[in-house]
Amino acid sequence: MINDSKERYGSVSKFLHWLMAVLVIWQLLKFGDRISEGEHWIGQTLVPWHISIGTLLLGLIVLRLLWVMSQRRHRPRQRPATAKLVKAGHGLLFAGMLLLPLTGILAMLGGGYGLTAFGIEIFAEGREIAWASSLGDLHSPLAWAFGVLVLGHTGIALFHHFAQRDDTLTRML
Ligand code: HEM
Ligand code: HEM
Repeated sequence: MINDSKERYGSVSKFLHWLMAVLVIWQLLKFGDRISEGEHWIGQTLVPWHISIGTLLLGLIVLRLLWVMSQRRHRPRQRPATAKLVKAGHGLLFAGMLLLPLTGILAMLGGGYGLTAFGIEIFAEGREIAWASSLGDLHSPLAWAFGVLVLGHTGIALFHHFAQRDDTLTRML
């Protein structure tokens, strides 16, 4: 089933969720630059894709948000007791997936570096832009908060599956 239903997520939601989860975890490896200044295997093979994958994630999150809106009337039900909390948590995850690429791109443009993704120049190098740089400074603190949120989200999903033994995880698999 392509579409979501009250019981489970459909194939498009599942595909976007897991593809983006892998890419987001890949992006979070950028924290590895703090270890030996990135002079290790992860820092030299996976992290150099940070800007390209981040730019791809911006495109994917726009598609995903449009898809979520198209599905909003028939998404899986949440337990009434925690529905608002779950909605807020998922909302923050969506906000992080949108704001991280935006602030990352602003950091690049603000510094006058331009933007090149997968070898394609999107914005050429240019002058420094102070306001873009200031917004770009939010990228790192947002990445820390988002990292904690992703850990919490993953922990809760595993808790549902292994401790509460309900169908929360299986309806996303
Ligand atoms: C979902 C997308 C993204 C995630 C999860 C993410 C995550 C991160 C993380 C974890 C760091 C390390 C922060 C630290 O060590 O304090 C970082 C740094 C950085 N990211 Fe991203 N990023 C994303 C998208 C982007 C994009 C699209 C760009 C640029 C086009 C970008 C540019 C940078 C730059 C220049 C740094 C180093 C400077 C800094 O720490 O502010 N990022 N990012
Ligand atoms: C790594 C980055 C991740 C991000 C950014 C993320 C984001 C999200 C978002 C925004 C949702 C809301 C539903 C939707 O897709 O529209 C969601 C649902 C879900 N995620 Fe993740 N996720 C991540 C990783 C994981 C991992 C590693 C697991 C499992 C171990 C997981 C398990 C789930 C489950 C089970 C749901 C459905 C929850 C429900 O129906 O209440 N996610 N995720």
